[in-house]
Amino acid sequence: MDLKDKIKSLKIKLDALIVAHYYQRDEVVELADFCGDSLELAKKASSANNKLIVFCGVSFMGQSVKILSPDKNVIMPRLACCSMARMIDSSYFDMNIKKLQSLGVKKEDIFPMTYINSNAEVKAKVGAMGGVVCTSSNAKKIFDYALSLNKKIFFMPDRCLGMNLASDSGKKGSILGISSDDEIKNSDVICYDGFCSIHQLFSVSDIEFYREKYKDIVIVVHPECDPSVVKAADFAGSTSQIISFVSNLDEDVKVAVGTEFNLVNRLTKKNGNKNDIFVLSSSKPECPTMNETSLQDVYDVMKAFDDGMPYNEIELSNDCIENARKALNKMLELS
Ligand code: 13P
Ligand code: SF4
Repeated sequence: MDLKDKIKSLKIKLDALIVAHYYQRDEVVELADFCGDSLELAKKASSANNKLIVFCGVSFMGQSVKILSPDKNVIMPRLACCSMARMIDSSYFDMNIKKLQSLGVKKEDIFPMTYINSNAEVKAKVGAMGGVVCTSSNAKKIFDYALSLNKKIFFMPDRCLGMNLASDSGKKGSILGISSDDEIKNSDVICYDGFCSIHQLFSVSDIEFYREKYKDIVIVVHPECDPSVVKAADFAGSTSQIISFVSNLDEDVKVAVGTEFNLVNRLTKKNGNKNDIFVLSSSKPECPTMNETSLQDVYDVMKAFDDGMPYNEIELSNDCIENARKALNKMLELS
């Protein structure tokens, strides 16, 4: 039996659901029962009937399933981290709330909103303060809700998504550690200073390069890109929104896409010769941790589970789950 067949037979034996984020390697995506963006994966895996979820992605994604569905066993072939999620932890959260208080912002006037790319403890802090989670596909909707509360939004960890949302709604945004105290005090949206190192690779000069080369080229980017890049692009959207936007383009329209390499590469293959699809960067925008997971890892983690020696299983305290779930459930209600 080859590795794929061994995984398939373990899958049946364990009644497992294998899910993969779009940024995973092709071999993993091809084998998965379901592939999606972070919101779709959280919904699909947590509502599945299967007790065992094999999550091929980065840790915060597996944690989201455990938070929403604590009775499930969630195992990850690799406990890969998202470097952006690693930029904030619960102590940084507390420190920044204190910093805002020291600037005269009352705690009850702060509405915390965290991008799903954050660890479970940060989500728990947000949930305990009555805040909410968002993903790139529902960020606008959740942000509009947050604005309706007439509080100061503390957005974490992605300063780019936070500033993009603020500018999209004509609100004043600032960034902790970068903006002056006065700018922070006078802004509607205060962003934590986190970012995605992969989406930082796309620049306005890359867009200018392509626009000069192909007059009518369409530029598509993920909202984790810098606000200057999002402004200069024709469309910004989550992973799934990018896939559907590109798939619906008229034949022969050229498109340059500013997001993770595996996804763009797969789009190119899927698209056949319908459109010319370019990666919007001269360097390869590959998320190293998303790329860690191999088929061998998927097999190994499932075999160990079957042998009664599980590893890489997501475990969270009840307290953490309870508070983080408040923030995640609020997101699901709103989206
Ligand atoms: P999506 O919500 O679009 O899947 O994005 C997750 C992510 O990590 C993008 O870098
Ligand atoms: Fe995190 Fe960026 Fe990788 Fe997405 S692409 S998982 S935000 S490091």
